[in-house]
Amino acid sequence: MTHRIASIPGDGIGVDVTIEARRVLDAAAEKYGFSLEWTEFDWSCERYAKTGAMMPEDGVEQLSGFDGILLGAVGFPGVADHVSLWGLLIPLRRAFQQYVNLRPVRLLPGTTSVLAGRKADELEMVIVRENSEGEYSAIGGRHNAGRPDEFVLQESVFTRVGVERIIRYAFDLARTRTKHVTSATKSNGLIHSMPYWDEIFAEVAARYPDVRAEQCHVDALAARMVQAPDRLDVVVASNLFGDILSDLAAAITGGLGMAPSGNINPSGEFPSMFEAVHGSAPDIAGQGIANPVAQILAGAMLLDHLGETVAAQAIRASVDEVLTAGETLTPDLGGTSTTTALGTAVAASLR
Ligand code: NAD
Ligand code: IPM
Ligand code: MN
Repeated sequence: MTHRIASIPGDGIGVDVTIEARRVLDAAAEKYGFSLEWTEFDWSCERYAKTGAMMPEDGVEQLSGFDGILLGAVGFPGVADHVSLWGLLIPLRRAFQQYVNLRPVRLLPGTTSVLAGRKADELEMVIVRENSEGEYSAIGGRHNAGRPDEFVLQESVFTRVGVERIIRYAFDLARTRTKHVTSATKSNGLIHSMPYWDEIFAEVAARYPDVRAEQCHVDALAARMVQAPDRLDVVVASNLFGDILSDLAAAITGGLGMAPSGNINPSGEFPSMFEAVHGSAPDIAGQGIANPVAQILAGAMLLDHLGETVAAQAIRASVDEVLTAGETLTPDLGGTSTTTALGTAVAASLR
């Protein structure tokens, strides 16, 4: 079986960690008897500097025939973040209807949580982030520019279809886990969008009487994630709240270097795209010290998506093994190893 994968390493540490994920995925393919046919795309801020565009005009078309996409990270000083991200990542998520952003976190062995006393496997949850609408909107603009009464409007869009499908996805997922969904909103402050989300959440919850449904204000949930994270399993949230909560969930389970994510098109009509939760980390780019684990685990999610579940599970086991051994940890994990050393160790453990 051959899977055709598009790789977009992107910017900064995205490039370094994607090399390591490919190394590990290739080792998995060899061991488990399938092949990965890679095509690499140089779409990045560097490309923007040269051509004025993050990707070619027919970029979406070029990717549409692939079985999956592995993305490094996008964004680097020199190009405004809203320009780079709205020039590549966000249009791809939308064009391919990747309306689920699945962000599982687990406290891995050999790592310590900033939460005192937690041990490996004591913390595990998944953020189900709405990935196609909500607060991420291009609708709005600047008014009365240059005058004392200047202001901007930034609209949010919550459609019935969009809200309902992400909440249903969360409930279906919960049925495969501990049957517990927590919805994060801010209905006390935002008077249109969030009460609407709550209304649809209650409607969907009624159709899943076997799943415990809980509604929480996002501010209180942030505190709870730090103080009592073990009482959470599936957390469903809008685009912006899911974004923020997923960095928080990463932080309590070993840091941004450990958290993978999948931009999923559930119908399978379009390719899904896998990436770390973190960004291009300009502060450590070019130093060879980025932690590649998040991107390697994103690669495992890609294999799961392709149906190579045994290989995906083997990658996770190898990551656990290498972290437990503790001999090749990057600086964010308290070690002195390089990105390459950690990636190579995972690939070696897999073989
Ligand atoms: P970031 O995630 O890049 O970095 C935040 C902090 O975490 C930094 O101190 C960084 O060094 C550290 N960090 C992140 N990943 C790490 C890893 N693998 N190993 C060790 N340390 C790691 O977030 P930011 O600084 O807010 O954003 C930097 C750029 O990345 C911006 O241009 C932003 O828009 C972009 N970004 C892109 C994506 C994406 O493409 N999916 C995601 C987030 C941010
Ligand atoms: C992420 C990132 C992006 C997002 C940014 C870079 C636009 O933070 O994937 O979490 O908010 O979706
Ligand atoms: Mn984010």
